[in-house]
Amino acid sequence: MKPADLIPRPEWYPTRARGGWLSLRVGLWLGVTFTTCFLTGLISHFHQHPGLFPLPDGPAWGYALSQGIHVTTGIASIPLLAVKLWSVAPRFWHRPLVGGVLRMLERGSVLVLVASAVFELVTGLLNVAEWYAFGFFFPPVHYAVAWVAIGAIGVHIAVQLPKVRALWAEPEPPADATDLNRRDVLRLAGLGAVVVAGVTAGDKIPLLRQVGVLSQRSGNGPQGLPVNRSAVAAGVVADPDWHLSVLDQGVERTFSLADLRALPQHSALLPIACVEGWNAWASWEGVPLRDLIDDPGGVAQVTVRSPDPGGYGASTVNKQTLNHPDTLLALRLNGEQLALDHGYPARLIAPNRPGALQTKWVTVIEVRR
Ligand code: HEM
Repeated sequence: MKPADLIPRPEWYPTRARGGWLSLRVGLWLGVTFTTCFLTGLISHFHQHPGLFPLPDGPAWGYALSQGIHVTTGIASIPLLAVKLWSVAPRFWHRPLVGGVLRMLERGSVLVLVASAVFELVTGLLNVAEWYAFGFFFPPVHYAVAWVAIGAIGVHIAVQLPKVRALWAEPEPPADATDLNRRDVLRLAGLGAVVVAGVTAGDKIPLLRQVGVLSQRSGNGPQGLPVNRSAVAAGVVADPDWHLSVLDQGVERTFSLADLRALPQHSALLPIACVEGWNAWASWEGVPLRDLIDDPGGVAQVTVRSPDPGGYGASTVNKQTLNHPDTLLALRLNGEQLALDHGYPARLIAPNRPGALQTKWVTVIEVRR
């Protein structure tokens, strides 16, 4: 047997359920889930890099919704992609396998498409599961490859457009009683997408909590609220001498915890909405951030810092969010003093903001005018 004989041949895939009819339909669904995932991913990116594209400071649940959709459409894409690849598998082995320049370009674009799509879904899923098996910082790589994937999908649709038109107009090939039914495979792909989205959505939609058997974050954690970064992981311990410094134009004002408690308090019902898609609502009470700053109207932005040496140990609050009445330096959660894992003695909480930017264990507020 020659080595070439070991390379699969299209005719090795006997079922006729594969092919254009199924590829097109499942491809369209995949196009919808992937594009929605991409657009909501952009929203997340703009939240994390606020200078690029200003986002509104409301509604309070905005980020919970867009990131919930991002993770759900990403997870729903997994069975759709599996069925799509199953349906086109014989095409990978059409001869010539390499061919001329045009053929190589076409094959190359398909390779980039499949590799980037699989990469995005696998790394996204691992990140949701908090299994950082990959050795790189997830957000910039996931963001960059998202552009590659969406660009590759655009090229793919353009290349396949004549076929898309022809396949759409073509009547469905007759079903073969002895073979798999392509409609059943399509239904299975749709059902798979709905089921995986449903069993992981309990941490996004409270109504689905009972069926969300694979939802990781359904209210577990101190004070009934999930925690991603614990005080132990951040190397933070309760400090009896804790005080807050507000640095403004070279002037430092300090506040003890008793000073903050003596200031007028405001409470707000706000979610912690995580990049992993889950959200959990709570009643927060504390000092409006703007009340800690003289002339908050003249502030360009503030940076809120903590002793956490990790990538999310500090965050920036823009002028609009600073002046929102529900943007708090929170001292209490659901009527109790904050647990250490939730940022005791004081943490930032603001509407329509990723949880990673709701800085815990705040010690410094730096004002830029
Ligand atoms: C993440 C999204 C997608 C991936 C990973 C994907 C992947 C693929 C692959 C690997 C092939 C085989 C290409 C070849 O060997 O030449 C293919 C074929 C095809 N795709 Fe997609 N695709 C996606 C989205 C779409 C979308 C959105 C549409 C429709 C608008 C679509 C329509 C088609 C069609 C019509 C074919 C030809 C099928 C045939 O002739 O058997 N695909 N796709």
